[in-house]
Amino acid sequence: MLKTAVIGLGMGLNFHIPQIVSHKKFELAAIADVDEEKLRIASEKYNVPGYTDAYEMMDTVPLDLVVIASPTQFHAPHSIAAMERGIDVFLEKPMASTLEEAKEIYDVHIRTGRKIMVYQPHRTFSETVAAKAILDSGILGRVYRITRSIRTYFKRSSWQAYKKNGGGTLNNHGSHYIDLLLYLAKGNAVSVKCELQRILATGDADDCARILMKTDNDIVLDIDMNFASAFNPNVWELYGDLGTAVLVHPESGKPFFRARYLDLKFALEAQKYYPCTNPLNDNAEYPWMIKDFEVGDNRYAINIYDKCYEYFKLNQEPFVPITDTLKVMDVLKRCHADSMF
Ligand SMILES: NC(=O)c1ccc[n+]([C@@H]2O[C@H](COP(=O)([O-])OP(=O)(O)OC[C@H]3O[C@@H](n4cnc5c(N)ncnc54)[C@H](O)[C@@H]3O)[C@@H](O)[C@H]2O)c1
Repeated sequence: MLKTAVIGLGMGLNFHIPQIVSHKKFELAAIADVDEEKLRIASEKYNVPGYTDAYEMMDTVPLDLVVIASPTQFHAPHSIAAMERGIDVFLEKPMASTLEEAKEIYDVHIRTGRKIMVYQPHRTFSETVAAKAILDSGILGRVYRITRSIRTYFKRSSWQAYKKNGGGTLNNHGSHYIDLLLYLAKGNAVSVKCELQRILATGDADDCARILMKTDNDIVLDIDMNFASAFNPNVWELYGDLGTAVLVHPESGKPFFRARYLDLKFALEAQKYYPCTNPLNDNAEYPWMIKDFEVGDNRYAINIYDKCYEYFKLNQEPFVPITDTLKVMDVLKRCHADSMF
């Protein structure tokens, strides 16, 4: 059993603690939050000691792992303090408020030899697993573009609405989608363009962000995060030179991916007879094939705490390598620089 503590009782209480207490390989050993009332209620509910000072908790309770779900500005001090005390770290996204802080965390991980992994939930989602299966199947040919859009109407007013707290849609949600698309593209961002706007949020940080990246394996990654949109389509588009797959939202029933593609053998044959730039006559009837890919019923296809156990206890490769997360932090910095917001 991994003796595990949780710092921060927002996402910590709503997601991590229920996962920990329902997992056979984890034991919830302590919790910390500066909010005394929240702490008291959670302490009683889960019958664990509660601390208003996370450092005192890490000094007092013998721990294998600490889950850090405090506000982003505390990610660096909390995770550095944990690793300095010989405790491994499972850290909420974004890794830190800045690339510089993220590098400090990384340096301490290297120096102390303690393990660290950042929680990137989108890698575990059923939609992602389905999209990855389509891309890996090769039916789309050479993949050249992936588009992912989320839109909703939401006036953010919490600490996440302010730049000084590392807030804003780019940091909060960009850290999900940048990681997701680089993971699916299996590439590194060589060029990054970004536009940020604040439309509804009460603070000074952005709530609309558009990111365009090009990877070293020549894939354009297009991310649109709009928190001031009255329509809210959940858009997935996967483009290859032999076909396209999109997430379809039927009037009734659950969403699924539909791929429309050309059979590779047909495309090669056509090229033999028409060795020009466009192997098919513009007027030709393309023999499109259609294949639907189911998206699993649960939001999560992968249990992240199984992945934590494999990495933190069984010494297997991390599901989210920390070097991948540093690349996300680098893209976030380039987005801020490019948007000049
Ligand atoms: N993975 C996801 O999908 C996801 C979703 C939401 C939030 N997050 C991330 O989780 C982190 C927390 O966000 P949230 O939405 O839960 O925020 P929140 O404000 O709901 O909760 C944060 C909690 O931390 C406590 N806290 C503040 N300062 C503290 C300190 N110094 N020591 C201990 N506790 C402290 C607060 O009292 C609060 O209870 C952020 O980094 C955020 O980006 C991730």
